[in-house]
Amino acid sequence: MSQDTDLSTSPPTLGSRISLSDHDETSDSGLTTPRQPLPPSHNEDMPNRDQVVIHPSQEALESQDSGLDHIEVDPNHQYRQYRPDSGYDGEVQTLASSTLAYPVEHGRRFHAYRDGNYIMPNDERESDRLDMIHHLMTLSLGNRLHKAPLDNPRRILDVGTGTGIWAMEMGYQLKHKTGDLYPEAFVLGNDLSPIQPSLVPPNVYFEVDDVESPWAYNEPFDFIHCRYLTTAITDWPKLVSQVYQFVIPARSHTAPNGWAEMMDYDLQLYSEDGSLTNDRPVMVWLDHILTASRMTGRDPCPGPQLEGWMREVGFTNIHHELLKLPVGIWPNDPHLKSIGAWNFLQMLNGLEAFSLRLWTHVLGRQWEQLQRLLVDVRNDFRDPGLHICINMHLVYGQKVV
Ligand SMILES: C[S@@+](CC[C@H](N)C(=O)[O-])C[C@H]1O[C@@H](n2cnc3c(N)ncnc32)[C@H](O)[C@@H]1O
Repeated sequence: MSQDTDLSTSPPTLGSRISLSDHDETSDSGLTTPRQPLPPSHNEDMPNRDQVVIHPSQEALESQDSGLDHIEVDPNHQYRQYRPDSGYDGEVQTLASSTLAYPVEHGRRFHAYRDGNYIMPNDERESDRLDMIHHLMTLSLGNRLHKAPLDNPRRILDVGTGTGIWAMEMGYQLKHKTGDLYPEAFVLGNDLSPIQPSLVPPNVYFEVDDVESPWAYNEPFDFIHCRYLTTAITDWPKLVSQVYQFVIPARSHTAPNGWAEMMDYDLQLYSEDGSLTNDRPVMVWLDHILTASRMTGRDPCPGPQLEGWMREVGFTNIHHELLKLPVGIWPNDPHLKSIGAWNFLQMLNGLEAFSLRLWTHVLGRQWEQLQRLLVDVRNDFRDPGLHICINMHLVYGQKVV
């Protein structure tokens, strides 16, 4: 029986609820939170909407240049003032003190294990942003946690799990779907930062690990998931090779499992209608950030290369989708408007997080100068005349022997 995992047994939402099904369906917006898993919500039939762009690999790549359907602009959209929260919480007390000796810079908290390897903060504000990203990514997949055609996977690994929200939702529905048949089914999430909650589904585990070091698992996994590691990884081919090594192979192309799924950004912002020009502060800021990330040896645009890396190490049955994500509420289509709203929130909440270390450590520039630039960058994001998009690539492939 196919277990094409969706969010129909999704745990928690704050405010509104995610409604889900096995098909590409949409839901009301809800801010997902990993903090307190709750019983599953019921499915609600929602109208089936097309993704912005979903194509097999070659078509997807070609479509970037081929002027596919443009997202239609809502002429009446307006932005309200957005004020991000601040402050920390979430102390974890069971790990080595060195792992928890988080450095704080300009009021933002960073990981301590392998200090300096990752440029983004690990504080509560960043966790909130990651949970928003999770919601917008599952929305963009038609309320699904993955696209690979899984069949009762028992061992799942989430690489660089962040807040662990994907792992928890996956673990929750895995347990729900498999019940007592596969009591050993579990999800493991790893990360440099132990920022995941301790109250989690019983089949979900987290560990502190550097995924760029040699992996030391005793057993391979039925499914490995790897999402949003842009600006984090110095050696992508090595990472993808380790993913391949630790996927349990399928015996044939029609056999279930043996899948890995990778989903990542091309951080280059653009507009389809030419409204975003290179002289805008947001593009000046982005240029600095992309340059600085490359200076650290960490690719800010791994998305378009995922398919090639996966092919190179041996994955077959590869499927590649390009997801064109609007930033802001400017699209006319309600589903895209919802995705754009979440993207707008995470973007504005993340500007300081993306920039802080790259701007001060790598470019050696002043924090105050960054703050002044970010005022103009925020205004660009709020400008109803700018119709900004960003691309996300999803690639899954099978290991067959
Ligand atoms: C942008 S977040 C994405 C989190 C999660 N994958 C998601 O999609 O919600 C990137 C995560 O990767 C983690 N990370 C970065 N470099 C890492 C490494 N070398 N080993 C393990 N985790 C890493 C960071 O700590 C952060 O939590």
